[in-house]
Amino acid sequence: AYDAGPFLPSRGGLAAHRRAAADCRGCPLHEDATQTVFGAGPESARILLVGEQPGDQEDRQGEPFVGPAGRLLRRAAEEAGIDMDEAYVTNAVKHFKFVRPPGGGKRRIHKAPDLREVAACHPWLRAELRLVHPEIVVALGATAGKALLGSSFRVTKDRGALLPLPGDDEDQDGRPQVVATFHPSAVLRADDREGAYAGLVSDLRVAAEALA
Ligand code: URA
Repeated sequence: AYDAGPFLPSRGGLAAHRRAAADCRGCPLHEDATQTVFGAGPESARILLVGEQPGDQEDRQGEPFVGPAGRLLRRAAEEAGIDMDEAYVTNAVKHFKFVRPPGGGKRRIHKAPDLREVAACHPWLRAELRLVHPEIVVALGATAGKALLGSSFRVTKDRGALLPLPGDDEDQDGRPQVVATFHPSAVLRADDREGAYAGLVSDLRVAAEALA
């Protein structure tokens, strides 16, 4: 089965994990992607945001949320009162998954990761959550929501509320709370872009207020 587990270092902090993730072959996505895009931001972050997977720009630059969706996320987060310089951003899946257009063009078309790839990559996300141990986790879109909250997660039903992060440790108090919202790429594609953007900002405000 696909599994990043064997590629995780047995010790060390974020830097050691980032170095090890560069060589992850836990699923086939590393074959076509340019590089692993690990999370970025301070280990001391009180808020951790999770997207789906790197996009085209992120794949080229090796940094999460540096493309169009990232620009929209940064604008919405600052508007909601989240200081993105003090946030940790990452993705449920750490390699870009794409297809070529029919006929074999140069363009790389984003393809959503499937459950096996999300599950395979989960050890990296779990390690980031443990090492950063944020107070608030923001799930951006369905892939991140399912990865964090389980397969019954639905954005439309579950967004904008403070939810406990499920976990098998007994220590409820030590666990972060999760707020889910739209994926910024979904906002960019929405018919009612302004309405979706306002929803994103209002959900992010729930996260910002929980931190205050
Ligand atoms: N979309 C994501 O989900 N993550 C990124 O890093 C960029 C775009």
